[in-house]
Amino acid sequence: MKFLTPAFILVACFLDYVLGVVIPQQARRQPVLPTPQLITLPLKRVQNVPKDIHPQMLMQQYINHASKRLARMTGRQEPSEHQLRSELHKRLYILDGRPAPSLASPGSSFNAGNTRLGLAATQGHGKQPSKGSINNAAENGGLTSANPPTTNNSLGLAIEANDVAYIATIQVGTPAQDFKILMDSGSADFWIGSENCQSSTGGSCGNHTFLGPQSSSSFVSSNSPFQVTYGSGAVAGTLCQDQVSIAGLSLNNHTFGVASVESPQFSSSSVPFDGLMGLAQSTLSQQNVSTPVESLASNGLIPAAITSFKISRLSDQLNDGEVTFGGLDSSKFVANTLVTISNVNQQGFWEGAIDAVSINGADSGLTGRTAILDTGTTVMVIPPADAQQLMQGLGGTCDSQQCTLPCTSNSSLAFTFGGSSFAIDPSDLLILPVQPNNPTGDCVAGIQPQQIGAATQWLVGDVFLKNAYFSTDVGNNSISLAKLSAP
Ligand SMILES: *[C@@H]1O[C@H](CO)[C@@H](O)[C@H](O)[C@H]1NC(C)=O
Ligand SMILES: *[C@@H]1O[C@H](CO)[C@@H](O)[C@H](O)[C@H]1NC(C)=O
Ligand SMILES: *[C@@H]1O[C@H](CO)[C@@H](O)[C@H](O)[C@H]1NC(C)=O
Ligand SMILES: *[C@@H]1O[C@H](CO)[C@@H](O)[C@H](O)[C@H]1NC(C)=O
Ligand SMILES: *[C@@H]1O[C@H](CO)[C@@H](O)[C@H](O)[C@H]1NC(C)=O
Ligand SMILES: *[C@@H]1O[C@H](CO)[C@@H](O)[C@H](O)[C@H]1NC(C)=O
Repeated sequence: MKFLTPAFILVACFLDYVLGVVIPQQARRQPVLPTPQLITLPLKRVQNVPKDIHPQMLMQQYINHASKRLARMTGRQEPSEHQLRSELHKRLYILDGRPAPSLASPGSSFNAGNTRLGLAATQGHGKQPSKGSINNAAENGGLTSANPPTTNNSLGLAIEANDVAYIATIQVGTPAQDFKILMDSGSADFWIGSENCQSSTGGSCGNHTFLGPQSSSSFVSSNSPFQVTYGSGAVAGTLCQDQVSIAGLSLNNHTFGVASVESPQFSSSSVPFDGLMGLAQSTLSQQNVSTPVESLASNGLIPAAITSFKISRLSDQLNDGEVTFGGLDSSKFVANTLVTISNVNQQGFWEGAIDAVSINGADSGLTGRTAILDTGTTVMVIPPADAQQLMQGLGGTCDSQQCTLPCTSNSSLAFTFGGSSFAIDPSDLLILPVQPNNPTGDCVAGIQPQQIGAATQWLVGDVFLKNAYFSTDVGNNSISLAKLSAP
């Protein structure tokens, strides 16, 4: 379909860190599979978050990050680092009430690497979770643990910070060690930091759990290199084989990657995960190997290469996030609302046709749109004309860079997939106040304008996925969605 230059074909995509996608000094535009020198940004997390960062900066960083991710997903040329830095500069200077300087050379006055945003920035926001939740998240390495899963072949999904990322614990090696792994439906490579891991900015890969011959007697190295570039960072290393256990299902000698170089957004001690598991289709894999769910299925450990997600919302305080392999967890959704639609993406992403979009119950008239459903993206990134139309209907506005809604908005948005309408909780459309001290003013919206993919192609992340049960099936090349059961 719309995927053009193989040269840009995705290197895999990743997670959008609302909390801190930053463009550091060493960042630069990234042709495909360069030498293992990484790319973009740092970011993340919650500890030691400066309290004086403006939420607008956070949002611009986020938008920049999402733009790059979408560009890679759609095979188009991503915005240059220079352009992204310019956007950050502009935003910074607008905030300061000063005109933006022209940005002749990247890396001038503004060191984006120092800007981290955290939960502090969401104070006053309607979705602000209780203090207890925040403290819990902060104390546990930025993670809020999930309850035990409610069906077989499942893992709880811990929530990073304020619905930033979703992380499960698996076991690898002999003896088996626990690894915290980010679960991403928008990429297709699985890797863990290696015992000899170095940060691309120097030094070690932080306070993580690593894998290698010293810690695992069943570890078998290979000389095959791999490299994955995400919207927010990159890793490089070699393929290996080892024992991998996922929810008690054991893969013998599974082939995956150990990263010997990680960019700071993976290597930093403040990053609350040790590796990443891509759960798109292996046609996207840079490692050219089966994904874990495909291997579980081909080894007969699960009936089909199905991955199902219950993406939880921190403010609900239910901690019921879960990923299920080989089937769906029928306790998480209303059975007669389940719809299954074709995956329309040729590359291996999960992309479904949106039949209709309704705003406050009325049809918006938008047709022919598709949604790339990505657990690794936090908000929704929509071409500006569509974003504008949606925001007008919702009572908000967009400028060229950002959409906002009144923080008091109760407007509703719903997408129809497979003939069934899925409503988004109005509060999910309110990310955080534009002015931190004015929680009833304007809020940065959960829809942001970017024309990087095809004009009809929307990148739809957790803002939507928190409102539906989401399942993918490699064998049938299909996507299923269902309404969530009442807690
Ligand atoms: C889970 O697995 C156990 C043991 O195989 C089985 O007895 C039980 O019925 C399964 N539960 C569900 C919900 O499938
Ligand atoms: C490193 O991680 C361990 C376990 O996650 C934790 O107990 C320890 O305090 C951490 N150390 C530092 C220096 O962050
Ligand atoms: C895994 O690989 C090791 C080393 O190559 C080999 O000895 C072992 O038999 C393999 N195990 C399985 C189950 O294939
Ligand atoms: C990936 O694997 C397939 C089959 O195993 C092979 O035909 C193809 O050349 C491989 N591609 C790369 C880039 O290694
Ligand atoms: C396979 O996908 C199609 C849509 O592409 C759907 O209609 C069908 O129900 C799916 N089959 C299964 C077994 O899920
Ligand atoms: C928001 O809208 C819903 C559905 O229309 C309604 O039930 C609810 O009472 C509204 N909440 C507020 C605060 O207006």
